[in-house]
Amino acid sequence: MNEETKKKINQKYEHKLAHGERFWPDSLYKDAVVALGIFLLLILLATFVGVPGEPKADPSDATYVPRPEWYFLFLFKFLAIYGQIPVLGRIEWIAAVLIPGIFLIVLTLLPFIEKKPDRHYSKRVLPISVMGIFVVSVVTLTLIADHPLKWDAQYRLTSLLQVISGLIIPTAAYLLLFLFSFLLKDQRASQGMVLTAGLSGVLMVGLTASVLFLAPVPEVEEVFVANTLPDRVVAGQDLYSIHCVECHGDDGSVTVIEGVEGLDGTVTSPISGMDVLYTFTDATIANIITYGQQDLGMPPFGKAAGGELSVSEIDYIVTFMRYSWDDRFEMPEIPELFPPLAEGEVPSYEVHIAPIAKRFCISCHREGKDNNNYLMTSYDEIIHSGDSAPNLVAGDAESILLKVIQEQNILDENGEEIIGVMPPKSVLKPDVVDVWVRWVMAGMPETVDGAAALSDIVEPVER
Ligand code: HEC
Ligand code: HEC
Repeated sequence: MNEETKKKINQKYEHKLAHGERFWPDSLYKDAVVALGIFLLLILLATFVGVPGEPKADPSDATYVPRPEWYFLFLFKFLAIYGQIPVLGRIEWIAAVLIPGIFLIVLTLLPFIEKKPDRHYSKRVLPISVMGIFVVSVVTLTLIADHPLKWDAQYRLTSLLQVISGLIIPTAAYLLLFLFSFLLKDQRASQGMVLTAGLSGVLMVGLTASVLFLAPVPEVEEVFVANTLPDRVVAGQDLYSIHCVECHGDDGSVTVIEGVEGLDGTVTSPISGMDVLYTFTDATIANIITYGQQDLGMPPFGKAAGGELSVSEIDYIVTFMRYSWDDRFEMPEIPELFPPLAEGEVPSYEVHIAPIAKRFCISCHREGKDNNNYLMTSYDEIIHSGDSAPNLVAGDAESILLKVIQEQNILDENGEEIIGVMPPKSVLKPDVVDVWVRWVMAGMPETVDGAAALSDIVEPVER
């Protein structure tokens, strides 16, 4: 500081001392009044407006993803981006503690590093640039905090942009700033710094905008929400039929698993028995379904454990189990699986066969299961697939499928069984068998209209 500036400052100081306000008590008094005002405002806001709470914590829900408050999201994102650096990215504390720590220290020391007496912004380029880049970083990181960092084809571009704008640009900018401030002289240093800060700011904002603009829209899973109790029970029953029947049987009574690869002969307690239902709470059953009992042979089904069922789907299964088997619960009226047939009426795939197959057969007769390649998830599959195809021949009462659902197994020429009775662990009710038989004999129509055309409903005779 040269003599002249010192004198100027002293003069200003004397002037203020004579004419201006004093720190004590004038300024402090003003500060105190404003602080009190803000404090009262906060109390009023907290009392009458408040912050909405998050939903109550559910200890059995392992799918909850904790997220920081929005004002920490930038740090969260920074950590994620930093984690992409090879090797160094593994050392989390560098990004979580060291870098923010260094930043705070630099911020604290900035007034001591930059000791110019001037207050005009054109004379304080370094601190303003440092702070400017920091603020832009915080804002842009917060904006992209929700965007995934993944390196598959879909996300590669936006992930790269995020790394550039969140890590590479600010790092390079800070390095340049300090280089300029140490290596260049006054005028040129300021120019360099202004240019660096301006350019990096524009780049960061531009890249962030591109990330927001280019980011693939995440696929929203279509969720079926069953609201009423009967809906939930039916949804649960369908899911149970698809995922559980194979091992536990359609009424949950299986005690020895048969015909399931790797588990043949495994003993299990009947899950529809009161031993299980009285001793396990809903949450426990949901947990068993979610995580399985892998050492005992029960696979995990919850998405949280790599399975395919969501939390609500598992909830429907538990509801179905309770209302169907637990004698303390009364089963609500649930709609029938298919409308009863009138005499002479022909059933259709749409209305009758599809729900029956879904309820009793699809658990085994779908992709990835042991089933002689006989899939039953669509009209075409039911008619055409299978190692022994055709399993169904229109008008043929001796069709393989019709035999096996009527408790006749299929033998080869040596008398060895090649296809057992279906479903293997239970017997279809007569009205269900009747639907299959009528459908095949009438020509296996796919649609309701097709079935109606073939129907020969006996009209009541008028006298
Ligand atoms: C691949 C075969 C398999 C499938 C599929 C399967 N389980 Fe299991 N499950 C088992 C085995 C094995 C056990 C352990 C047997 C035991 O300890 O009684 C078990 C145990 C259970 C138990 C605990 C019984 C007890 O007494 O501890 C419940 C409840 C249960 N399963 C429900 C289900 C439900 C609901 C589904 C469908 C989402 C399902 N399971 C699907 C094989 C299976
Ligand atoms: C618990 C699993 C399971 C269920 C449930 C089940 N199947 Fe099967 N199904 C099999 C297996 C396994 C085979 C292979 C033959 C065998 O092992 O008997 C098979 C074979 C068949 C075949 C012969 C396929 C071919 O081309 O060789 C027909 C037809 C069939 N099932 C019909 C049905 C029908 C209809 C239902 C529903 C009412 C049903 N199955 C339910 C396990 C099942």
